[in-house]
Amino acid sequence: MSTQTIQADFDRIALLSTGHWDHAGPYANFLLRHAPLKCHESLEIGCGTGVFSRLIAGRSQKVLAIDLSPQMIRLARERSRQFANIDFRVADVTTLDLPPRNFDCIVSIATLHHLPFAETLTRMKAALKSGGVLLVLDLFAPEGLLDAIRNIVALPVSGGMRLIRTGRLKPPRALRDAWTEHGRHDTYLTMKQVREVCAELLPGAKIQQHLLWRYSIVWQKTNE
Ligand SMILES: C[S@@+](CC[C@H](N)C(=O)[O-])C[C@H]1O[C@@H](n2cnc3c(N)ncnc32)[C@H](O)[C@@H]1O
Repeated sequence: MSTQTIQADFDRIALLSTGHWDHAGPYANFLLRHAPLKCHESLEIGCGTGVFSRLIAGRSQKVLAIDLSPQMIRLARERSRQFANIDFRVADVTTLDLPPRNFDCIVSIATLHHLPFAETLTRMKAALKSGGVLLVLDLFAPEGLLDAIRNIVALPVSGGMRLIRTGRLKPPRALRDAWTEHGRHDTYLTMKQVREVCAELLPGAKIQQHLLWRYSIVWQKTNE
């Protein structure tokens, strides 16, 4: 998928965004639990409307939060007026110069599948300080019977959570259509592929498969 298509998709989604709930939401606290308690500087790649940037801002002196979509960044700024320590920027992580060994925490939620996986992890790793923590939450391609069963269980769980949080079983029609069209050109790695790349690049990474079509990577950089 081209960068222009991704940007256009997320500009469209941002304009329809209600800001209520998505599938990453239930895992935000899980990620936060693995972040360092005190960060000098954190980076979020693909920050969207800034939900996690605001959470990590509570533990960081400075947060750099980047996203390809100007509309996402506009909303993120609007929703984060009281967070003077977050610098929201429209930027493409594939071309942005990331200072080496600079960040205490680097996070990416539901974004990595839009990017070259191994190359992006390598860049994230290089930008982490020694002792810093890399946190990823992303989607995977289901494989086999276990994932099929997980999928059947996930559907009512996800519907129920949305109902509790928003009073609706599904997002509004226009937003659903925008996600469906975006999803047509989305591709995901299998868990096997994720584990293979991580074994090579992030030795000792903790990789977990979660119920709502997501996996996480938690990795701490040791002295390098
Ligand atoms: C599914 S959204 C997730 C947003 C946010 N992390 C969340 O969980 O709500 C993926 C985001 O990644 C951004 N993105 C995709 N490719 C990017 C790139 N090359 N550089 C920066 N951001 C990118 C998109 O614009 C979009 O806002």
